[in-house]
Amino acid sequence: MKKIAVMTSGGDAPGMNAAIRTVVRKGIYEKLEVIGIQRGFQGLVASDFIPMELGSVADIIHRGGTILRTARAPEFLQKEYQLRAVYNLHQQHIDAVIVIGGGGSFQGAHVLLQHGIKVIGLPGTIDNDITGTDSCIGFDTAVNNVIEAVNKVRDTAMSHERIYVIEVMGRTSGHIALAAGLAGGAESILVPEIPYNLGDICTRIRRGIDRGKLHSIIIVAEGAASALEVGKALEEQLQMDIRVTVLGHIQRGGTPTAFDRIFASQIASTAVDLLLAGTFDVMVGLKNNHISITPLVDVLSQKKPLAIDLYRLAEVLSI
Ligand code: F6P
Repeated sequence: MKKIAVMTSGGDAPGMNAAIRTVVRKGIYEKLEVIGIQRGFQGLVASDFIPMELGSVADIIHRGGTILRTARAPEFLQKEYQLRAVYNLHQQHIDAVIVIGGGGSFQGAHVLLQHGIKVIGLPGTIDNDITGTDSCIGFDTAVNNVIEAVNKVRDTAMSHERIYVIEVMGRTSGHIALAAGLAGGAESILVPEIPYNLGDICTRIRRGIDRGKLHSIIIVAEGAASALEVGKALEEQLQMDIRVTVLGHIQRGGTPTAFDRIFASQIASTAVDLLLAGTFDVMVGLKNNHISITPLVDVLSQKKPLAIDLYRLAEVLSI
């Protein structure tokens, strides 16, 4: 192993820079040459490679986003592009690629593997929907971003005695909604994994009002429903004034939390160790506070379940 490459792909996630920094610095410490692939799989196909030095990753650990840029590259599903990417890697004599991203990025990584390229995946997505790891780079920061917003909305909800419906990210999963809903004290949490019933939400709100509760926060994962539609339906059923806030990409930006920086550094360092030891075709994550190593095929074939115990706890606490 002499030359490795690192790339970020899919939606950016705070903490990706800490992972890039570790791959570069640890790689150079281990006498490896490190190449940065810009704009994910798009850049791999376009041979958008840059040499990474110690200084290339200076002053980035506290920055959200990714200095390597990222892209969604559906064209990589086509064989022509895959072969071009493999050719580019061979041309540059790159021995292995560390792919930082989510499910779609790991599918791309798997394609590289099938073409004989050594790959290791690092989970980086605010959605936290990757199996084999308790957390993904960016999730902790995103949840904290949401809570900061919920706290602010709560101030005005309390002042006006209103119900607020807040939509958070999570295209196919409710991990952000659940974590932020529990930590933010939401009355109801709507996630794609669990069917919801508007009647139940109304009953819960009415019960709160009867007890003297004057405001409520409902968190909706974008994959479960549109907050605007939920707000409209609740307004009709409850005959109350309801406000809707869609948080959008604010959740994905900002300085990464200490957790995301440390976690990203740890798993990226392990990825370099594994490559040096001749292990690849795996994703490095964290389970029960210990580094976990999961075959990429298992990561790709299983859907991460929602923490049902946390969901039930949130229900109990918002009785
Ligand atoms: O990266 C994950 C995610 O933030 C999802 O939660 C969201 O649905 C999606 O990306 C948005 O993607 P884009 O920024 O490409 O619109």
